[in-house]
Amino acid sequence: MKRKLKMKPIIVLLFIVALIAFSIIFAVRTINYHKTYEYKLLKLGYSKEDVVEIEKMKDKTKDYLISIEYNKNVIPLINEKYFLEKNLKKYIEYLSENGRDLKDTVAIINVGADNEWYTSTKKTDISKNELMLTNKFYSLDNTYNSDNMVKVSKQYSYGDNQMVTSETFDAFLSMFKAAKNENLTLIINSSYRSYEDQEEIYNEYKNTRGEEAANKIAAKAGFSEHQTGLSIDIQTYGSSAKTFEEFDEFKWLQDNAHKYGFILRYPKDKEYLTGYEYESWHYRYVGIEAATYIYENNITFDEYYAYFVEKD
Ligand code: DAL
Ligand code: ZN
Repeated sequence: MKRKLKMKPIIVLLFIVALIAFSIIFAVRTINYHKTYEYKLLKLGYSKEDVVEIEKMKDKTKDYLISIEYNKNVIPLINEKYFLEKNLKKYIEYLSENGRDLKDTVAIINVGADNEWYTSTKKTDISKNELMLTNKFYSLDNTYNSDNMVKVSKQYSYGDNQMVTSETFDAFLSMFKAAKNENLTLIINSSYRSYEDQEEIYNEYKNTRGEEAANKIAAKAGFSEHQTGLSIDIQTYGSSAKTFEEFDEFKWLQDNAHKYGFILRYPKDKEYLTGYEYESWHYRYVGIEAATYIYENNITFDEYYAYFVEKD
């Protein structure tokens, strides 16, 4: 009996110690949980499912998301086909300032078309070969020339000074023959242009039509993909830039150019991404894989490059 009485305070003491220990553990765990992205994102208003998606991203991205208010566009943006995590902040900011939908916003930001044309320019990465990008944000040195150029025989071209890279020529030849089998004739009207040639063309447009109009139809020297030797302007007997799209050759190219590695480089209604008005005659060699993807998914080369080729 005496012994039993002595045990009681010890049990009570142990119980109190255990309670304090558990309380400390619980408090520490709570404090730690409050430091997690999960807690902070849930508190902002994201759902558990949203958090699972966001958790997959880099800490830098998550830090950004917890630094701003809940944004209903975050998850739909992540689910966009060409979503690039590095651009999330720009997408969100662009969306809040512009009336564009999510798809257009992703495309515009990916290609850098939220910037004024010819600003924030970079050098074309020529190591990408047939996938190199030359546009209003990527330029070639004035001395750049492919070391792999071939002369195009007069049989396939207007003028006797046409040149393209040898891969472009081989691909054109296959395409030419396939079109010929259907009694169609593809004629190269313009191909490689040196920096100086392009300067002359651009200045001619600028002097006759004014700078704004010139910028929509011709590239400034260094910014033309004609300098790469990978681009060709195609015509046929009796056609002109204005009328080419009415010819069967154009219709055939629309359905078949990708099979030979060519894409229509400046499609209709994509001026906000390419910076150029629709050109039914300008084809760019990018290889069969890229051309087929671009054709099947109806995107511009600028978008393809940003998503599949450019590495940060
Ligand atoms: N016409 C195309 C855009 C060029 O000048 O390169
Ligand atoms: Zn062209």
